[in-house]
Amino acid sequence: MKNIAIFASGNGSNTQNIITYFNGGNIASVKLVICNNPNAYVLQRASALGVPAAVMDKTALTADNPSELLSLLHTNAIDYIVLAGYLQKIPAALTTAFAGRIINIHPALLPKFGGKGMYGIHVHRAVVAAGEKLSGITIHLVDAVYDNGKILFQAQCPLSPQDTPEDVAAKVQALEQQHYPAVIEQYIEGNVSR
Ligand code: GAR
Repeated sequence: MKNIAIFASGNGSNTQNIITYFNGGNIASVKLVICNNPNAYVLQRASALGVPAAVMDKTALTADNPSELLSLLHTNAIDYIVLAGYLQKIPAALTTAFAGRIINIHPALLPKFGGKGMYGIHVHRAVVAAGEKLSGITIHLVDAVYDNGKILFQAQCPLSPQDTPEDVAAKVQALEQQHYPAVIEQYIEGNVSR
């Protein structure tokens, strides 16, 4: 059984889906949610599902030596970190300590539409502005560079010229709900090449 910590900043639909997916199974369990925003709805979702959450400020989360964060992960015997709509940069000390054990989902087909400032609706606006015929999701490992780590999985959705950014978001979020927990599980099980 592997222990997962989810890092999230906002709504928490992926967090809820991942917690629920692993509940009652014997592969992994979400032990902890870490959040940088005390008002984020993800905190209510975690609480409703009985998963402890820690709110930490930006300094503690992004410090060169994030000792408070590392010790929280250590105390909870965390094996894998899963990012789910998490908007802070992961410090190099964490990508080193958890090399190959931090997974992110990006709401577009990387390497397009990635990098700093590309999150949530901003991504979908850029996709629509570029007149893309496809979007989708990218599940990838996290290293010291934004949206740069090894790609584990992608899924696509067709776009129509009439799609608004909100329409694209809905299509992408459906793919996230469908695939993210299962890809995490496959990776933990060693069925996805590392
Ligand atoms: C998701 O669409 C996720 O892919 C995206 O934020 C949303 C969070 O939704 N992540 C990024 O844009 C990261 N660059 P949620 O809080 O409901 O899971």
